Amino acid sequence: MRAFGGHGLVVADLVDTLRDTITPTDGLSLVAEHDGQIVGHVMFTRSLLDAPRRLVEVQVLSPLAVMPEHHKRGVGSTLVRNGLKTLAERAVPLVFVEGDPGYYSRFGFAPGGAQGFRKPSLRIPDGAFQAIGLPEYKPWMTGTLVYAEPFWRHDAVGLRDPGA
Ligand SMILES: CC(C)(COP(=O)(O)OP(=O)(O)OC[C@H]1O[C@@H](n2cnc3c(N)ncnc32)[C@H](O)[C@@H]1OP(=O)(O)O)[C@@H](O)C(=O)NCCC(=O)NCCS
Repeated sequence: MRAFGGHGLVVADLVDTLRDTITPTDGLSLVAEHDGQIVGHVMFTRSLLDAPRRLVEVQVLSPLAVMPEHHKRGVGSTLVRNGLKTLAERAVPLVFVEGDPGYYSRFGFAPGGAQGFRKPSLRIPDGAFQAIGLPEYKPWMTGTLVYAEPFWRHDAVGLRDPGA
């Protein structure tokens, strides 16, 4: 997990735990290969949206990583677009991500707050909390994103303030 620098071990542990939650029909783990080597990886796993009508199963994109020497060649974009396409085919209504809007907006992700969603932690900057509705999305699907337990167990939600 060199792509994540000093945060790499937390992400590696998170990946190990999330991998166990993925089944052939729920969640996705995609890799990009170059010359027989894995150069990029993305995961999508299930979390819940606490909507007024009922709990809705949604997917969270995390993590996404590309080996530094393969950046800016479209690897990350290809992984994200392929993932979203597969999830749309599986009738997943919504995908959430915590990340830089400068990057994720190109795929159609937009700030979650403006779409009627509440972030699962105050430690997530408003702009970083993003969502994209896929074809099965319905307007009644609003509410708070409830991260699956592994994100909390690995303290992989939002930003920590060591001085607080
Ligand atoms: C973010 C990341 C996955 C992008 O992978 P990539 O394969 O280089 O992405 P692509 O080639 O599809 O897209 C590259 C474009 O995204 C831009 N980009 C990359 N990171 C960005 C960011 N944080 N904010 C805005 N733009 C960003 C690049 O400048 C480049 O722009 P260009 O198309 O105008 O040249 C990769 O930089 C990475 O692994 N970073 C470290 C881990 C990380 O931050 N993961 C995301 C956690 S939310």
